[in-house]
Amino acid sequence: MEDILLMIPGPTTVPKRVLDAMARPIVNHRGAAYGEILDETTAMMSEVFQTDNQSYFLTGSGTSAMEAAIANIVEKGDKVINVVGGKFGQRLQQLTEVFGGESIEITVPWGQAVDPCEVQRVMEENNDVKALTMIHNESSTAVVNPIKEVGQIMKDYDTLFVVDTVSSLAGDVVKVDDFGLDICLSGSQKCIAAPPGMSMITLSDDAWNVVDKVDSPTYYLDMKKMRKSAEKSQTPYTPSVSMTYAMNEALSMVLEEGLCARIKRHHTGAEATREAAKALGLELFAREGDYSNTLTGINIPEGITDSQLRGTMRDKYQIEIGGGQDHLSGNIFRIGHMGITGLPELSRTFTCLEMTLKELGFEFEAGAGVAALQDVYMKNM
Ligand SMILES: Cc1ncc(COP(=O)(O)O)c(C=O)c1O
Repeated sequence: MEDILLMIPGPTTVPKRVLDAMARPIVNHRGAAYGEILDETTAMMSEVFQTDNQSYFLTGSGTSAMEAAIANIVEKGDKVINVVGGKFGQRLQQLTEVFGGESIEITVPWGQAVDPCEVQRVMEENNDVKALTMIHNESSTAVVNPIKEVGQIMKDYDTLFVVDTVSSLAGDVVKVDDFGLDICLSGSQKCIAAPPGMSMITLSDDAWNVVDKVDSPTYYLDMKKMRKSAEKSQTPYTPSVSMTYAMNEALSMVLEEGLCARIKRHHTGAEATREAAKALGLELFAREGDYSNTLTGINIPEGITDSQLRGTMRDKYQIEIGGGQDHLSGNIFRIGHMGITGLPELSRTFTCLEMTLKELGFEFEAGAGVAALQDVYMKNM
């Protein structure tokens, strides 16, 4: 287990510093010591979200923050525009419907980013839309959506802009205040490189104005209760004290590296992965120009099965790479280059991917992938 290299799109490898932090003694979550660490961690969280708004930690994976975002603003019959171009876009749409909202779907082909003009067109066509939901980095298709451009459009409307940055925050550019994101949510286990189990959310004043008018059926994810408790440096229910330590340490590491430097490092990893894949003659799944900066989706070559490819990588080389989701299962594989992952991990992955492909009869120039990877890193030194 110890030797498995995690190259999936989250959870990602957790640095030892973060793991060690989790071993600290548990304290009273209603006491001053916990309050201090919660406040400090929350302040760092807002810095990473690039917002002056308060941030909140929810004990639960990214989906709990997705649910909190919708449950606190959507009431029966509310119109919500959902941008759906993959599994996570679908999830926000399903949540909209679970809480009684009427979904207006902007359907985007899997593998492509939404066209901001299409968002503008649908906004113009519909009145009284309560919110528009979008996934920044659609991890099921390895596509990045233009939140900055859509945020600019949304500034002209009285509609909340809800953005999931679970697989992009701290790995790609997310500026909550500048981009006009009313609700932004994320998860612990991707580019921030903490263990899975915690999610984060931040709300603008406009979002709070809506939340204050909604009588939400949610109990555990009630943001009004979270806000009230935060005033006393607490959470409404027992938080994961150990995960708070982990987030504190992981966010310290993000800020020590510097957000810009970390994002640049993720961009380099993404470019290197794409170039390495192309040098081997593999095809990228996403449309050119829409590529994610935190993971890469690659078509599985004809004649090779998912279980052969990922099974060999796992069993023979102890490297976990991600499979496709839903109808992409068996058709693509996904390499995560998030968190602390860099050249050493990608070199090992591509060396072993070349060995695997060779064993499975795929033709390519030996060493071409690793050389292309190295070229990109040298260019970005
Ligand atoms: C973009 C995106 N949103 C939401 C989620 C859901 O997060 P979780 O699995 O932590 O509940 C994921 C998980 O992969 C994701 O990639």
